[in-house]
Parts: sequence; C-alpha cells; structure tokens
Amino acid sequence: MITGASGGLGAALASHYAAPGRSLLLWGRDHDRLERVAAACRAAGATVVVRRLDLSDIAAAVAAVEADDAAAAIGVALLVAGAGDVRAPGDIVEDAAQIAHLGLVNFVAPSSMAAALARRMVQRRTGTIVLVGSAAAFHALPFAAGYAGSKAGLLRFADALRLSVIDRGVRVTVVSPGFIDTAAGRKSPGPRPFLLQPADAAARIARAAERGRAHSIFPWPFAVLRWIDRLLPAMARDRLLRALTPPQD
Ligand SMILES: NC(=O)c1ccc[n+]([C@@H]2O[C@H](COP(=O)([O-])OP(=O)(O)OC[C@H]3O[C@@H](n4cnc5c(N)ncnc54)[C@H](OP(=O)(O)O)[C@@H]3O)[C@@H](O)[C@H]2O)c1
Repeated sequence: MITGASGGLGAALASHYAAPGRSLLLWGRDHDRLERVAAACRAAGATVVVRRLDLSDIAAAVAAVEADDAAAAIGVALLVAGAGDVRAPGDIVEDAAQIAHLGLVNFVAPSSMAAALARRMVQRRTGTIVLVGSAAAFHALPFAAGYAGSKAGLLRFADALRLSVIDRGVRVTVVSPGFIDTAAGRKSPGPRPFLLQPADAAARIARAAERGRAHSIFPWPFAVLRWIDRLLPAMARDRLLRALTPPQD
C-alpha cells in the first residue's frame, strides 16, 4: 500500500515495487495522475487497486485503511502522502488554517492510519509500516514552522510506535529525506543541495524498509546537519536559522 501514489515520490515508489506477482494498493487524490501511475504499474506486471481519498478526513482515512486491510492483508504500508508549506510573500507567520491542514495531512492522518494498521498487523504478527518524514523535522525552520513541526511530530510518533510493536513481529521505519526533485520539492525556496531524483529516493526507502531500519536519513549530509543543529549553542543556532529565512517586507 502506498499513499501519495499520485505524487512524485509516491509514484516513484509505486514504480519501484511494480512487478509481476505484486499486488499494489495505490492511494491518491488526483484522478488522472493516480490512473496514469496505476496504468504504468499494471504494464510492469503488477495487480493494482486504487483508492481516491482526501486524508484530511481522518475518520474516512482510518475506516478506509481498515477496510482495505480486511479485504486483503497489507504486508508493507508506505505512508508517503504529505503537504508542503512555505509562508506566502509578506507573511511573518503562516496562516492558521494552513497550520491545521499540515498537522492533519502530515501528522494526524499518517499516525492514525499507522496505528490502525499496526493493531491489525500485531494480531497476525507480521507487517511493515514506513512513514515518510523529512529532514525538515530536525530544524526549527522559521519559514516553514507548520511543515517542520508536523514532520517532527511524525518522527517522534514513528519511533514510539516502533518500540510498542517491536516484539510483535511488526516493523516500523521512518525516513527523513533531504531534497527530492518533485513538483512539490521545486516549490521550496532557495537552493536545494544534494538533490535526489525520486527513483533514487524510492530505492533508498525500499532498502531501509527491507533492512528494518528504525530511521533512515538521506542523503548523509542531512544527518550531519541534524547533529550540528543539536550541538550548536542556542544563540548561534538561532542566528543561523534566522539567516536562512527570506526577508518578508
Ligand atoms: N520533495 C521533497 O523535496 C521532499 C523532501 C522530504 C520529504 N518529502 C516528503 O515526501 C512525501 C512526498 O512528497 P512529494 O515531493 O512527492 O510531493 P508531491 O509530489 O506534492 O506529492 C504529494 C502526494 O501526497 C498526496 N496528498 C497531498 N495532500 C493530500 C491529501 N490531503 N489527501 C490525500 N493525498 C494527499 C498528493 O495527492 P494528489 O497529488 O493526488 O493530491 C500526492 O500524491 C511528502 O510526505 C513530503 O513531505 C518530500
């Protein structure tokens, strides 16, 4: 199962897993893009079922994942869907409605769906859940507080969920990528160092899931930046993060 399969990274993951004998359950919102990804996966030999759903309807998302899992047990769930944010020009602080939306789509939806799935996987003592976070989770980004905050919440949730099911045959992996060359990634302001192509990112995520890694940060310079953020004295860190913020007026 892959959420966000109609988007850049999710579509790349669908293509990575598409092969004869594989059953894919692809979730997305945009009908045409989702159908295009499904058709390419079918052409590669996979059996594909699609589901269109807005993940900000949490109750519907949880009910749907439970129904899908009851219909055919999900072996590997990749919760990829996510929304990005950057302050609108002139905004000192992001819009409150946008913060609520990011919280729902980037944190509440994947966490609740992962919990619903983990409960079912624990019953059958097998399954893998992969949550797609972001290296943004490691830093207090003043220009993307909602995005950084929602991904930080997801990271902590994934780690805790992993520990709660580790002895029950269920594996939980969280990945924290740097920049990926997708339509959404291209909207991010400023330079995008160590940019990865979606297919490369997808292969790294699949590898992390196969190895049962707790947390995969890629490419590696983002792991180094995480340590720098942790080790810098607070004043120096604050100055650095503020310097990254584009001027607003
Ligand atoms: N690109 C990067 O540089 C980067 C870096 C680090 C982490 N990530 C993370 O990687 C994941 C995929 O990002 P991407 O770059 O591939 O973005 P993308 O191209 O914008 O794709 C996002 C996917 O999420 C789905 N989605 C968004 N909001 C949704 C909602 N309310 N309900 C249901 N589905 C929704 C989209 O569906 P529709 O298009 O059908 O609406 C799309 O399939 C995200 O979690 C993102 O935070 C990306």
